[in-house]
Amino acid sequence: MDTIATLRGKYLEQISAAPDADALETVRLAALGKKGEISLKMRELGQMSAEERQSAGPALNALKTEVDAALKARKSALEDAALDARLKSEWLDVTLPGRPRPMGTIHPISQVMDELTAIFADMGFSVAEGPQIESDWYNFDALNIAPEHPARQEHDTFFMHRADGDNRPPHVLRTHTSPVQIRAMQDQGAPIRVIAPGRVYRMDMDQTHTPMFHQVEGLAIDRDISMAQLKWTLEEFCRAFFEVDEVELRFRASHFPFTEPSAEVDIRCSWEGGQLKIGEGKDWLEILGSGMVHPKVLQAGGIDPNEWQGFAFGLGIDRIAMLKYGIPDLRAFFESDLRWLRHYGFASLDQPSLAAGLSR
Ligand code: DAH
Repeated sequence: MDTIATLRGKYLEQISAAPDADALETVRLAALGKKGEISLKMRELGQMSAEERQSAGPALNALKTEVDAALKARKSALEDAALDARLKSEWLDVTLPGRPRPMGTIHPISQVMDELTAIFADMGFSVAEGPQIESDWYNFDALNIAPEHPARQEHDTFFMHRADGDNRPPHVLRTHTSPVQIRAMQDQGAPIRVIAPGRVYRMDMDQTHTPMFHQVEGLAIDRDISMAQLKWTLEEFCRAFFEVDEVELRFRASHFPFTEPSAEVDIRCSWEGGQLKIGEGKDWLEILGSGMVHPKVLQAGGIDPNEWQGFAFGLGIDRIAMLKYGIPDLRAFFESDLRWLRHYGFASLDQPSLAAGLSR
């Protein structure tokens, strides 16, 4: 038992005298390592008689536990001391300015989509989506555009490839957002109020046309919706979007296969001094197509035209972005020129909201 007291005294003293982590580790190995003095003593227990073991066993175990605890305590004391020393010697100037990070900008199309979504959301419209690769049924037939209808050619459609011998009509890159009307009616039934912003595709390219551009579709179906609600909705939208108190819209009779009656809508504006002003002046600018949803279109969407009716409209997003922010050439929208993006882009924290105003 003397040995135990001796070992205890020796190691506890070495532990408290260890000046650093390395020295402490050397003490740990000498005491509790595989060949450490205490470990070897414990192995000897196996050769002892049962009686001897009964007294030596617990004493050795207690010694091991105590040395182990002393090692841990010393270790954390040494770490604390090291940290204190670092805190005293090192320092950080928290008043230095942060490192500048390059910041991207919000593309005008994204900004305008956010703006119009906020405005229509405020009027009770939710957002619907559909695929950009669309079946020809959704893109044409369901919208009452028959196979021989000239609109199929007018749209300059991009067709997807079909394998040789597969005679099903090819899918198309949607030529307008109108197919989302059908999908939304099928998904939600009536009554319904949705907008569907997104990309559309037509084979066309000049200063005001690109093969990919953006539209937002609107659809409101209920029991008693008329052209009057359509006009109010569009006027409210234009007032909020163009940030003018007075807007005047002009409905011009037109034809779309999916609406009856159909109207193209112009907004009053002036071009004085080459500067566009919305809401005043002698000029009119066409901004969208609209009408009362054709009964066949309601039927294709699974809605009974004897019970329900409503309006739809389709608006060019790129066009109203150009108008609102004075951007002259549509093609530049999609060229990813950093100088253009920095000039026309929006700060990422500039979130559109009706209350905060929508200006940059
Ligand atoms: N889909 C038409 C186009 O791309 C736009 C349009 C016109 C949509 C009238 C409508 C509508 O919903 O009622 O030219």
